[in-house]
Amino acid sequence: MDVSLKDFVKYNIIIGFIHYLKLQFGLLLISSLEFARNYTRAHDRKEKMRLTPRDITDMQQQEEEIVTNDYVFRPSLHINNDLSTSPGKAAMYPKAASLCLPLLTDPKNGIKTMGNVGARVDIISSYLAQRNPSVSFVSVDFQSNLVELNSLLPQSDNWSFMSGYALDLFEQGKLQGDLVLFSSTSVLFTNKELRLYFNALSKSTKYSILNEGWWPAAKSPTFFRVIKPEEIDPHNSLIILGPYDNYLHNYPAILSEYGFEIVSSEIGEVPNRFYWCLQIVAKNRAIA
Ligand SMILES: C[S@@+](CC[C@H](N)C(=O)[O-])C[C@H]1O[C@@H](n2cnc3c(N)ncnc32)[C@H](O)[C@@H]1O
Repeated sequence: MDVSLKDFVKYNIIIGFIHYLKLQFGLLLISSLEFARNYTRAHDRKEKMRLTPRDITDMQQQEEEIVTNDYVFRPSLHINNDLSTSPGKAAMYPKAASLCLPLLTDPKNGIKTMGNVGARVDIISSYLAQRNPSVSFVSVDFQSNLVELNSLLPQSDNWSFMSGYALDLFEQGKLQGDLVLFSSTSVLFTNKELRLYFNALSKSTKYSILNEGWWPAAKSPTFFRVIKPEEIDPHNSLIILGPYDNYLHNYPAILSEYGFEIVSSEIGEVPNRFYWCLQIVAKNRAIA
């Protein structure tokens, strides 16, 4: 049978389009299944207060595997001297750094130590430590080889590492920060665990900074707009609809219960990303 060139082209366009639709449908199905699995995970651990020794061992193992991959590409995600021109992929890092810098550089705040909880490969502390030689920076996370994992970043004498569960370390007095940063980390805590962290910080931390991804919530009448943290029940954090088993917390209310006053709170865009960023600076009413 002879097929004209016109029909041949038409046929291929139609078939190509059908294949494209099938592929898109498949991708949509895969991400829906992934979102559903994350929702179930977050739902199952919602009432937990803190990580158990078993959870900690699992997290450590999981983190050491992830970071082995990160290790290869992260140093390219540096923060440029001009924070506003850092590569788009690294957008959350300059955002965190620009929240911390004004507090660190103002001598009136008396910040001598800063802790970054869930630091992983700590582009932020590497950058800040170079610019604030009189402040001691500690990067805290589960990985036992934090020093090695961060070794490709610019180093400073005033930047060190602590491996372990930050909550235990704060409670045992082994870790302290006049300024404590959580960047893409406190969204992983359950409501009760977040409260334990703020309770521990209330004793000696002057400023607490949150620089967290902010997603649509899975079960919320506000699915089609960005929910504000103040709209969330302070005792019932929401589960996000997305690629992680994260929670959205009412940080202002919870921080206030533990003696922190909100200095600023903002939800902003993250360039080249399909989520937002919640940035909160909170000050300890009793000691800052
Ligand atoms: C999404 S990563 C963010 C890493 C880094 N802050 C960044 O922005 O690239 C979350 C980090 O928090 C740590 N983490 C997870 N759960 C934690 C918990 N319950 N307490 C303290 N750290 C935790 C993980 O080991 C991980 O390194």
